[in-house]
Amino acid sequence: MELENKIAIVTGGAQGIGAAIALDLAKNGAHIAIVDRVPANAICDEIAKLGRRAIALSADVASTREVQSAVNAIVKEFGRVDILVNNAGINRDAVIWKMTEEQWDAVLDVDLKGCFNFVRAVAPLFKEQASGKIVNIASINGLRGKFGQVNYSAAKAGVVGLTKAVARELAKFNVNCNCVAPGLIETEMVRQMPDDARQKSLDEILIGRFGQAEDIAWAVTFLCSERARHITGEVIKVDGGQYI
Ligand SMILES: NC(=O)c1ccc[n+]([C@@H]2O[C@H](COP(=O)([O-])OP(=O)(O)OC[C@H]3O[C@@H](n4cnc5c(N)ncnc54)[C@H](O)[C@@H]3O)[C@@H](O)[C@H]2O)c1
Repeated sequence: MELENKIAIVTGGAQGIGAAIALDLAKNGAHIAIVDRVPANAICDEIAKLGRRAIALSADVASTREVQSAVNAIVKEFGRVDILVNNAGINRDAVIWKMTEEQWDAVLDVDLKGCFNFVRAVAPLFKEQASGKIVNIASINGLRGKFGQVNYSAAKAGVVGLTKAVARELAKFNVNCNCVAPGLIETEMVRQMPDDARQKSLDEILIGRFGQAEDIAWAVTFLCSERARHITGEVIKVDGGQYI
């Protein structure tokens, strides 16, 4: 198997896209550490059924201290880390003239600083072992800007910049760092959208259907595999053509 016995951290892996990523990495041979602020027992049980090890750690990705303790605990449990997937994210939408400082800070803290916290915590390990794969989950809205999402668009654009800078800094240590930028993916949030808003979004997607969490997971697994060894600093849109 392509990722046989690799150790992967997936943030925000308790549900949604993160859970699909954790499951697909495990299907391809990896053992998984899920870091989330909500319990991830259900997905850990599913991974265990595949014969892979899975642990869940509770941490707020925005907290530098909690992230460092989580990474220490993962290294203690598994002995190493090979893959980091920064997936945890939130949105707090409002047009800019109504956006509060709290809404801005909350999204930047989780979506951008959370990513920084984890990359910084694993970088010394990856340097030392001279290998590693980092995949950050951005968004097409970080590339095009979205009405009502100044905070989210800025944070995800920041994730793209961080990815490219980290790719430069860690390339000589045999570390690949890339982004996957999803379009609208059919998670619980999309299922609960009003019919007209749902249809408006669907009209943007060339392929004519919402993306599924697995579509993102497959791209992430590819980027973590040796088949993607010559790809770094890249942003792969997985959006059914929604961006163009
Ligand atoms: N769903 C979409 O259409 C879509 C589109 C583009 C990008 N994305 C991105 O994909 C990622 C996953 O999105 P999703 O739709 O699965 O969301 P989701 O809300 O279903 O899952 C997000 C997970 O992150 C966890 N999380 C949130 N804040 C956290 C924190 N501070 N510390 C630790 N864990 C935290 C949540 O508990 C949850 O398990 C996010 O980064 C999101 O911005 C999603």
